[in-house]
Amino acid sequence: MATTDTCTKICCNPKGPIIVDGECNIVDKYGRPLCQDKRKKMHVLCGCGLSKSKPFCDGSHNKDSDDDDDDDITN
Ligand code: FES
Repeated sequence: MATTDTCTKICCNPKGPIIVDGECNIVDKYGRPLCQDKRKKMHVLCGCGLSKSKPFCDGSHNKDSDDDDDDDITN
């Protein structure tokens, strides 16, 4: 029987988004689901603190990218 890699991968970018690739449940501090689409296999979370739709990334990290020379992969 063939096996598949079902492990969820989490990629953290310096001053940028946290990419969750795989099945997961994202909930608020009370355990209420924040993502209603159960078919969604990838989530992009805010790692910079600038998003207006936390915990999800809204692209606001790009506004800060001209000020530094880090290796943010989303630029
Ligand atoms: S990582 Fe914060 S808005 Fe994208």
